[in-house]
Amino acid sequence: MKKIAVLTSGGDAPGMNACLANLFILSNRKGFELIGIKEGFIGLVNNDFVTLTKEHITNIYSLGGSILKTGRSEEFLLESGRQKALNNLKNNDIDTLIVIGGNGSYRGAQKLAELGVKIIALPGTIDNDLNYTEKSLGFDTAVNNSVTAIDKIRDTMLSNNRGVVIEVMGRRSGDIALFAATASNADAVVVKEVSKTKNQVLEKVQLAIKRGVDNPTVIVSENILNVKKLAKDLEAKTGKPFKTTILGYIQRGGNPTVFDRNYAMELAVKTIALIEDKKYNRAVGIDEGKMYDVDLSAVLTQKTNFNFQLYSLFDKLNS
Ligand code: F6P
Repeated sequence: MKKIAVLTSGGDAPGMNACLANLFILSNRKGFELIGIKEGFIGLVNNDFVTLTKEHITNIYSLGGSILKTGRSEEFLLESGRQKALNNLKNNDIDTLIVIGGNGSYRGAQKLAELGVKIIALPGTIDNDLNYTEKSLGFDTAVNNSVTAIDKIRDTMLSNNRGVVIEVMGRRSGDIALFAATASNADAVVVKEVSKTKNQVLEKVQLAIKRGVDNPTVIVSENILNVKKLAKDLEAKTGKPFKTTILGYIQRGGNPTVFDRNYAMELAVKTIALIEDKKYNRAVGIDEGKMYDVDLSAVLTQKTNFNFQLYSLFDKLNS
């Protein structure tokens, strides 16, 4: 029986479990054995492999996180670690490895492909930082989680006539910040992709106040600036009290949205079709709204697909 393995790596993303469930169902139907590797590349190096059964995937469709757990492996970054991983795949008779993860996971997958492992890579990260695909699995849920939280924060700010600076996730990508800002009708957004001075943020906030907004809201992508300091500065310049919230892990947990569940299913269907067609070292994603696959070695060099059009619409609306 052909054995295929799957791992979830990096930060977990809602929809990973739905994808695992679909991969299991389809593998079974095609007569493949599906092996789960625990904690991403950590389990790959440590030979932590488990044959997935119906019990593993029962009732996980709507669960956030990953039943396989995720991880970031220091050892895999070394050649010796990768050699261990390769040996474990060989000793377990694994024919193809499915890697579900973000940027770092794709780099790891590419290293394995260079060593001769047959890879299918699936975009699973809330950051949406894989530029070959319009969406990564988990992004939609993370944005929805953020907007739900921001709406609540804005309610209480409004009752108290306070402004607020809210930090959202997105290690190297401003996508969560942009989509959360537009959908929550915020007044300013700060992302890595567009440089903005503190004065420019202040101008947006002052304009919002002038237009009658009682709860001016600034959304900031993580790792750009100190939100507490920005709030203090805004408070000093506008005379209005400014609070801060760092949304953190609430964005990454919870049930996947309908979009992410359906996307998880489409990713699994495409993966099994690729394996059946013996097409390897492919990355699966969405291009112009349609599922497609592309050479794995080409995906990490692509330029940012940040939605500058949406950014300028939002900017115009707040100018
Ligand atoms: O990559 C997903 C992500 O949630 C980023 O947005 C964030 O910077 C990072 O993971 C947090 O990582 P950790 O779970 O290791 O704190």
